[in-house]
Amino acid sequence: MKIGNCDIGNKLFLAPMADVTDTAFRKISAEYGAGFTFTQMVSALGIIENEFESLRYLTFNRSEKPIGVQLLGSDFGIIREAVKEVSKFNPDLIDLNCGCSVDKVTNYNFGSALLDDPKTIGKLVDTMVHSSNGIPISIKVRLGKDKNHINVIETAKAAEENGASVIFVHARMRNDKYSTVVQTEWIKKVKDELKIPVVGNGSVFTPADAKKMINDTGCDSVMIARGALGNPFLFQRYNAMLDTGNDPGEPEIETVTEVLLKHIALVVKDYGEINSFDKIKKLAVWYFKNYPGIDNFLEKVFALTNVSELINLINTHTGDIKSKKFKLIEMSEVQNKFKERVLFWLVDNKTESVN
Ligand SMILES: Cc1cc2nc3c(=O)[nH]c(=O)nc-3n(C[C@H](O)[C@H](O)[C@H](O)COP(=O)(O)O)c2cc1C
Repeated sequence: MKIGNCDIGNKLFLAPMADVTDTAFRKISAEYGAGFTFTQMVSALGIIENEFESLRYLTFNRSEKPIGVQLLGSDFGIIREAVKEVSKFNPDLIDLNCGCSVDKVTNYNFGSALLDDPKTIGKLVDTMVHSSNGIPISIKVRLGKDKNHINVIETAKAAEENGASVIFVHARMRNDKYSTVVQTEWIKKVKDELKIPVVGNGSVFTPADAKKMINDTGCDSVMIARGALGNPFLFQRYNAMLDTGNDPGEPEIETVTEVLLKHIALVVKDYGEINSFDKIKKLAVWYFKNYPGIDNFLEKVFALTNVSELINLINTHTGDIKSKKFKLIEMSEVQNKFKERVLFWLVDNKTESVN
């Protein structure tokens, strides 16, 4: 599919993920076959006030293109100025977040709070289109407030009529948990009604899931969030499946470790050892989550105090997996747990943040 002049072929999208899709994550995902990546959501106000974290979230390297920047906001003037600023960096797409459902976002009438008012979304898109200096504009939405207020078609049409180039549909309602089954029939309905490309999103964890979403809904591509955590191989496997008709399956553990260590090196380079330590512990858990011994790894990772200890544990753990030290366990339970508590899976008593 095409976004403006940028052709991403049949490849998949990496979804915006707060605290996750930083430069390192995007680089690894693209290297392993993602066709298009996104920054995490960035506060429009933070951008125009030159707020340090916002500018950091927004920054990307030219080599990362094609890339989209996602904005969070709802004030017309602030959105206009933020889009003007962002367009100077020349991303390939500027997206408006209409899906985030955490209270600290919706309380300000940002994110999925906008879904109550498709006309306002249309006007915001119009504002963005007229201040982006030709850079295509998109929105990322959920289906509506709840099952009695599904208005995604109205929202999508308002965006299209006002010049949006793409729409990303996370096929859940605002208050649905990530364990709620995705209602892909709505992606199909949106696709049937719109002329612009429609990208489906929600619970795609394997190449076969992605193919099924495209076959069932006719959507132009699929966007992956949780499925890409510790698993850039998903993009590579999907591309291989399109080329050869076969999914090559999960990689060997040596490959997983090699990519994990490469990923860690990129993160440490960007943030420094101390600031990146929590982030890279999470990364390590994500990369190992599909392999036997994950419980054992989780027990040990908490006690570590620095990066070199973590790298030692990663190497020992890889050796233990290779030598089949761990019993084969029923992975579905581990995977369900992971899907429910993505972010803080390795931190006691914290609950998942739902975007
Ligand atoms: C850790 C995490 C952070 C997220 N941050 C964002 C975000 O910044 N912007 C956004 O539009 N969606 C965000 N989301 C939602 C995802 O982009 C995606 O819509 C959702 O997870 C459903 O896709 P999945 O089933 O493939 O995970 C986030 C999701 C997760 C798990």
